[in-house]
Amino acid sequence: MHRVAALLVFSTICMAQTIQFSEARKVWLITTAHSSYAMGVDGQGELQHLYWGGPLWRIDDVPAAVEKHEISSFDPHQMYENEEYPGWGGPRYYEPALKVRRADGDRDLVLHYVSHAARGDELDITLKDIRDDIEAVLHYRVYPETGVIARWSTIRNGTKQAITIESAQSATWYMPRGNGYRLSYLSGRWAAETQLNREPIHEGMKVLESRLGESGHNLNPWFAIDPGDADEQHGRVWFGALAWSGNWRFSVEQTPYQQVRVTGGFNTFDFSYVLKPGEQIETPEFYGGFSQNGFGEASRLMADLERAHIAPHGLQARLRPVLYNSWEATEFNVTETGQKELAAKAAKLGVELFVVDDGWFGKRNNDHAGLGDWVVNPQKFPHGLNSLIEYVNQLGMDFGLWVEPEMVNPDSDLYRAHPDWVMNFPGRPRSELRNQLVLNLARDEVRDYIFSALDNLASSYHIKYFKWDMNRVFSEPGWPEAASAEQKELWVKYVWNYYDILRRLREKYPGLEIESCSGGGGRVDLGVLRYVDEFWTSDNTEAFDRLGIQEGFSQAYAARFMSAWVTDVPNTNHRSTPLEYRFLVAMQGALGVGANLNKWTQEDFDLATKMIALYKQIRGTVQNGDLYRLLSPRTNDVAANQYVSKDGQKAVLFAFRHAQQYSTPAPAIRLRGLEARAVYRLESTDGKLLDEQAEMSGAYLMQNGLHLQLEDDYDSTAVVLQRLP
Ligand code: GLA
Repeated sequence: MHRVAALLVFSTICMAQTIQFSEARKVWLITTAHSSYAMGVDGQGELQHLYWGGPLWRIDDVPAAVEKHEISSFDPHQMYENEEYPGWGGPRYYEPALKVRRADGDRDLVLHYVSHAARGDELDITLKDIRDDIEAVLHYRVYPETGVIARWSTIRNGTKQAITIESAQSATWYMPRGNGYRLSYLSGRWAAETQLNREPIHEGMKVLESRLGESGHNLNPWFAIDPGDADEQHGRVWFGALAWSGNWRFSVEQTPYQQVRVTGGFNTFDFSYVLKPGEQIETPEFYGGFSQNGFGEASRLMADLERAHIAPHGLQARLRPVLYNSWEATEFNVTETGQKELAAKAAKLGVELFVVDDGWFGKRNNDHAGLGDWVVNPQKFPHGLNSLIEYVNQLGMDFGLWVEPEMVNPDSDLYRAHPDWVMNFPGRPRSELRNQLVLNLARDEVRDYIFSALDNLASSYHIKYFKWDMNRVFSEPGWPEAASAEQKELWVKYVWNYYDILRRLREKYPGLEIESCSGGGGRVDLGVLRYVDEFWTSDNTEAFDRLGIQEGFSQAYAARFMSAWVTDVPNTNHRSTPLEYRFLVAMQGALGVGANLNKWTQEDFDLATKMIALYKQIRGTVQNGDLYRLLSPRTNDVAANQYVSKDGQKAVLFAFRHAQQYSTPAPAIRLRGLEARAVYRLESTDGKLLDEQAEMSGAYLMQNGLHLQLEDDYDSTAVVLQRLP
């Protein structure tokens, strides 16, 4: 159903309330324009999941939760197959949402309903162990425009003894019972992040996770599940994403009774968290949504949610500026004169934010020294950093600075002063990766040191933007200063302190912007998105590879958060593509230039100036509009994406050809998301639009499509559409 039509149905149904409750039958029904979600309490007090799918409006239609009985002594688990938030206890065998150990070794936990409280679009349901005062409060926050529900839980120890949490999950999500489901997920590695995978779900369990300390390059905390027949435009798709930047885990299970369930939250691997009497722990938010209109709408709903409710400043956020960064051009060879020279050239292109990357501080001439010493290198900047910043500002650009605050090189003043600040197991080797060690940010003195280092930079210099990097994963995650039973809490407390620093920085410097980078896309998740304006998508900036990385990224994250640079060729993978192609690929996100401008020809400058000016015209549509993935680079030799502005007035089509064969003409590209009855004016950016009419109806554009002259390998073009009054 079209979005407007869905909203119409919704308003005709006219749910006065998003969350309804039937006292008599103990059923909750959450309804939005896109989806409904229901659960209920059975006669024993067990909270059961009852429904998740397209919108319902009548709570009486939803059957009440009924107690289930044993069918076979070998299959008692069917009884608990749809428990909304299962504790590990009684005859339960699936992945539990909560597992605890008491001081005396007792690990049985059976959670039953106690009470609930609804406020507007939020609902809390409290469950308690059948004997002990151990509670799980299940939180639901509904975002009516998207139908997405945020679920998380607070676990409380009301007993008089400490308990150890062995697993604390945010939520278990259930698909309607059935066979033949398919899982979509994003996997990859450094320089090849967010590759889209689709595979059948079979009986048993598939685990998606990170054990790296960060959300990670290998798997991204996002999933989608469809009945096996969805495509970009059609079919039912359930999707979810976890807001956590540390070790996370999704277990995707299909039971012998064809029940597919996804349980996600803190990774259980090496996890343990002690709750003393009266203490509580909150799990990260796990967002879940549903679309009846395929993977395309699922991504658009996620993008809407992120822009409006997760990222800083919500819908008031400014458009992402065009950025220049010299990392690929100069690497560590950063100098005041060199940066000024590049800044002057960048400003002429129309760049708005000039970022100095790694190499400006301490004894940072290569990656062997300096991390931890966040003071300006006097040899490289004999007049201090301010001289460069003022120059950059006079050129009309904002100034940004690279930092990697969680890390330390053993060759640094910080490490010499505080060798105990890194995570370590005493007396055992400290594995260096990229010659660096990880500070134990779970420790509050380390958190305070990092905050003050960044605070000092932000207050001493006119800095608009930090690129916050993290260039290695954890190893030897020891915390010798903590009590032995609490040392594994490092995994969680590290991330909380990381968020705390980001939150405090943003509060103190409201105009400051931050990019989340981790050697590329190692820290791309909804947890850190609450505090950052952009993600560094990948260290791989090669344009054709990027089409695949960006296709995966766009499943889960909006284009405005996707940093995308134009860099030099041949790129690290030895491929060379034309400059226009590189620009058009990067213009589908937050555009940046990372090329060595000292090597550019006048022709390059002219084209780049034109492309940046064009980007400024269309970036509102790209960054804040709706994305339609028309042709995938995975399956076609033409890849195409279209962005439509929220008011429907503008659209832009990007198309790429990578490996033409036998001079076969490119297929007509059928557009989407337009108004059939409206007429649009078309403007080709480079004359490769073969259709002669300058104006066409939405109907023709969507039914017949556009003909583009994409003849060569790595050919590309864009068409800008403006709706006529
Ligand atoms: C990481 C980042 C790069 C660059 C280098 C600097 O690899 O992803 O963009 O900042 O660090 O060392």
